[in-house]
This record gives sequence, C-alpha cells and structure tokens, in this order.
Amino acid sequence: MNSSSSSLVRNELDPDRLPKHVAIIMDGNGRWARKRLMNRINGHEKGVETVRTIVRTARQLNIAALTLYAFSTENWQRPKAEVAGLMLLLTRFLDTERPTLFDNQIRLNTIGQTERLPNGVRQKLESTIAETAGHTGMVLTLALSYGARAEIVDMVRKIATSARQGSLDPEAISAETIADHLYTRGLPDPDLLIRTSGEQRISNFLLWQIAYAELYFTPTLWPDFSKDEFIRILQDYQRRERRFGAVPSASTGP
Ligand code: IPE
Ligand code: IPE
Ligand code: MG
Repeated sequence: MNSSSSSLVRNELDPDRLPKHVAIIMDGNGRWARKRLMNRINGHEKGVETVRTIVRTARQLNIAALTLYAFSTENWQRPKAEVAGLMLLLTRFLDTERPTLFDNQIRLNTIGQTERLPNGVRQKLESTIAETAGHTGMVLTLALSYGARAEIVDMVRKIATSARQGSLDPEAISAETIADHLYTRGLPDPDLLIRTSGEQRISNFLLWQIAYAELYFTPTLWPDFSKDEFIRILQDYQRRERRFGAVPSASTGP
C-alpha cells in the first residue's frame, strides 16, 4: 500500500468518492491578526503556512484539482501597503513552494486578470507555470486578480468577437462553448467549495462553475484551518447525496 492510500484508510475517506476538484475561499487572515493585535500582513503570512499544508494534504489524498481564491479583483481597493505585502508574499510563496511542486508533480495554473499583477510577480508565475506544465499529480490553480463577473464579461467578449468574425454560429453556442471561454477552461467544475471565516457568501468566485458544487462554510479563520479540519470536511462531503436535479436514489423504483 502506498503512503497516499494508507492515509486514506487512516482518515476513513472513500478514495472512490473524493471530490475531483476542491475550491477554497481562504478568508479571515485580517481578523486572525486583529485578534492578536498584529498587522493584517502577519495574518496573511500565517495564511501562507495554511496554504502549504492544504496543498500537501490535497496532493496526498490524490485530489486532482485544488483552486485557491488568493486575491480578488475587488481586493485591489485595499490599502496600497496591504496589496504590496500580498504581492511580496506571493513571490516568496512561489520560491519556497517550487521544490514541493516538483517533488509532488503539481502543475501550477492561474485564473484571473494576471496582467494586472506587478511585472516581477507575473514573470515568476509565468515561469513556474511553464516549468510545471508537464506535471500530472494535481493542478493547483491560484485565483489572482480574479472576479467571476470580469471572467464572464471576458467570455462574452470573446464569443461575440468570434460570432462577428463568422467563426462561430450564435445558434451553436452551448454551455460547453461558455465553459471553454472561461479562465477555467479544461478544469472540471468544483465538486466542493469551502469558505473559511464564517462569512456565508461567494464574493464573486467561480459563479458559473459552482452551479452544482457542494458548499461548506466553516467559522475557522484561514490561518487556523488545518489538515484535520480539511479531512473532516471531506468526510462530510462523502456523507452528502449529490442529486443534480434527479430524484433521490432511494426513492426510485415502482
Ligand atoms: C483573506 O483574508 C485573504 C485575502 C482576501 C487576500 P482577509 O484579508 O479578507 O481577512 P479578513 O476577512 O479581513 O479577516
Ligand atoms: C474573498 O474574500 C476574496 C479572497 C479570499 C481572496 P474577501 O475578504 O475579499 O471578501 P468579502 O469582502 O468578505 O466579501
Ligand atoms: Mg476577508
């Protein structure tokens, strides 16, 4: 038995019923810091440690795709110093996580208007994405300068342009056409969406893609989120019955 399947047994998770794609709204870094009379950036620093733990755990469990909401289009409105601090942490994260991405066959991916990120960050992202492109263990998607409405606007523009140029027949536009023009093209829709910090809202994350995701809201602040809690949430997910609009499986029959 390899180490990942033995950890599945220990965690009482059914390996055949794990979500293929987990998306997380990592929230609560600022409140974590405030409770300790610290600077918000200290909360983000601690949050990066949680990111490391959860990336490793997801990989160990053989989850195929993990998407983390790291910075929203709306987060550009935060004080300059906080935005700069977050960009610095992102650059550092890319440096320190490099060996993990290689050792664990993790492919890095981003969604969002990454052209708005500072040059240095963007270059590091692009080179890491290129260098890890052949990794097949798990795809780690960072949502950076991401907003679902901006993504939808971009999608409509691309489709409208193709229609105007005559390369796309408007009558042929399907849900698949739309999915293919979103930043998440090629990724399966999230099966499970987790939000930390007690807020019960989506905050402009993956609006199209979460149509049938199971939602889980936890009061835990992101810096306090742990491997154990992640596994408990996965156990909860496995107890749910996903119906996709069909009748419950127990009530079929005569
Ligand atoms: C989440 O933590 C991280 C980002 C949005 C970048 P917050 O910074 O939103 O923390 P709270 O919500 O203020 O506690
Ligand atoms: C959502 O958190 C964005 C990220 C986690 C990156 P926010 O803290 O920005 O969301 P609101 O303001 O509480 O809706
Ligand atoms: Mg927040």
